[in-house]
Amino acid sequence: MKKVRSIIIIGANGRVGVALTREYQRPFSVKAFARNQLDLGKLDQVRSTLSEIEFDLLINCAALTNVDYCESHRDEAFLINAQGPRLLADICAEKSARLIHISTDYVFDGKQDTPYIEEDPPAPLSVYAESKLAGEEETLRA
Ligand SMILES: NC(=O)c1ccc[n+]([C@@H]2O[C@H](COP(=O)([O-])OP(=O)(O)OC[C@H]3O[C@@H](n4cnc5c(N)ncnc54)[C@H](OP(=O)(O)O)[C@@H]3O)[C@@H](O)[C@H]2O)c1
Repeated sequence: MKKVRSIIIIGANGRVGVALTREYQRPFSVKAFARNQLDLGKLDQVRSTLSEIEFDLLINCAALTNVDYCESHRDEAFLINAQGPRLLADICAEKSARLIHISTDYVFDGKQDTPYIEEDPPAPLSVYAESKLAGEEETLRA
């Protein structure tokens, strides 16, 4: 794996995206995309934009995180939280770049009485949780 010098951050206006963009400005060369600059739901735009840029690491901070909205917008939730990340993973693989994709505690049902670890079996209870789990599975498959 090559040394990380240039980073792409997607979802740069979200809580995690803002923090990481600020944190990584100094040691790395960061190109940050807010939703109005790169829409994860527009798969063709994502591919054409990213194919023109060289980078070592892509951090996906974009997600449809409004749990109630996801409940009534299932297709959109799966597009942004699963299909988009799958495309990002494919693009990163083609470029031999690394990808950081962020999970959520929502993939678990909360019934376990010990702290969760990543390997615990997921049990999503909402559309948001299902779509996030699908995103994990898709990126891991890629
Ligand atoms: N915060 C938490 O407590 C928490 C806990 C567990 C996991 N996570 C995970 O951490 C990651 C970041 O979450 P966050 O808390 O930073 O969420 P957030 O504040 O809601 O930020 C998500 C960002 O994604 C953007 N976005 C939504 N749809 C998009 C699209 N189609 N194309 C491009 N960008 C889009 C949003 O843009 P707009 O603002 O324009 O809508 C927003 O800036 C997510 O994967 C989330 O599941 C967060």
